[in-house]
Amino acid sequence: MKEFAVELRDVVKKFITPEGNELNAVDHVDMQIRNGEFFSMLGSSGCGKTTSLRMIAGFEWPTEGEVYIEGKPMGHTPPFQRKVNTVFQSYALFQHMSVYQNVAFGLEMEGAQKEEIKKRVMRALEMVQLIGMENRRPKQLSGGQQQRVALARALVKTPDVLLLDEPLGALDLKLRKEMQLELKALQQQLGITFIYVTHDQEEALTMSDRIAVMSKGKVMQMGSPAEIYERPRNRFVAEFIGESNFLEGQIKSLSANEASVFIPALNAEVTGTPASEGLVHGEQVFVSIRPEKIHLTEHSARLNTFEGEITSTVYIGSNTHVVVHIGDVRLKVWEQNRISRLEPSSFYTIGQKVDLMLMPENTLVLKKD
Ligand SMILES: Nc1ncnc2c1ncn2[C@@H]1O[C@H](COP(=O)(O)OP(=O)(O)OP(=O)(O)O)[C@@H](O)[C@H]1O
Ligand SMILES: [Mg+2]
Repeated sequence: MKEFAVELRDVVKKFITPEGNELNAVDHVDMQIRNGEFFSMLGSSGCGKTTSLRMIAGFEWPTEGEVYIEGKPMGHTPPFQRKVNTVFQSYALFQHMSVYQNVAFGLEMEGAQKEEIKKRVMRALEMVQLIGMENRRPKQLSGGQQQRVALARALVKTPDVLLLDEPLGALDLKLRKEMQLELKALQQQLGITFIYVTHDQEEALTMSDRIAVMSKGKVMQMGSPAEIYERPRNRFVAEFIGESNFLEGQIKSLSANEASVFIPALNAEVTGTPASEGLVHGEQVFVSIRPEKIHLTEHSARLNTFEGEITSTVYIGSNTHVVVHIGDVRLKVWEQNRISRLEPSSFYTIGQKVDLMLMPENTLVLKKD
């Protein structure tokens, strides 16, 4: 077995829009997806996720570059000759057919034997826990159950690679969270490669071994959930995944693992960790720090510590969201409510002076674009 189940090498897909403009829906994308991996493409609407998936499936062909499956260049190989199967964005089940017939349909088209079909359909329904519902029509199922029929329909063909395009998009939040865990468990149990498309960052972080963050047809960063969240390579990724505070400034000193940035708005230098590639001395940059990583303390004289004033606090149960102003600079800080308490005086209050400590290892220095 090859290391990579699927590879995109320098793939471009151009469309001519109805307005007559040329659009690079996918713009020089490189991706290597390992065998057995849960890989997600994450990005906002229109960034090229579905188009990338359709090129892997063979419903579209690249304008430039090449898609490889198990190390073989796919060229114009039609979808049914590729060892991949797709669960589409809208999973359109056949409404007039039973669950069993929906799942069996693809195998019947291939001319498989009746006994063989029965064995495989029942096995697929077992995987998605729908045994006992074979004779129901899609309308007689819940949204999550219909989603599982769509999944069984793809799994019954025993693909090496399953392509899933926002398969949980139509479900409510609670069901979606349940299905996320079920899908992840199923993928681990079967050892199939999943290539999963979503615009939901939390979903991507929960399920994936690795994520490609996409924007305007390009891959902005590819890595494990922790790499993407803890070491975003630029402001776009830091902003798209989770929340962050950004301070603009200029690099005053730089080594491999430390950078000092002068922040005019603070009239002070902040020491941080270089996170973008190719940073240079004197460069205008952003310093990025996540709200949960700022420490609020009472008067300390440590490195990267600034005095500020609390201007807003919102209690949300597990956390309190605090806004602190240092002069005109506004920072979001999330404090975990580790102790159960009711007296208002035990919480931060508006107008209170606090010291903010930005630990250098949590303070990332990022390129401006
Ligand atoms: N057949 C087509 N002809 C012209 N433009 C297209 C075609 N298909 C897609 N596009 C354009 O290509 C870009 C990428 O579309 P794509 O469907 O890949 O986005 P997406 O990331 O899947 O978005 P969403 O999250 O909304 O599903 C969009 O700007 C879209 O309008
Ligand atoms: Mg799409």
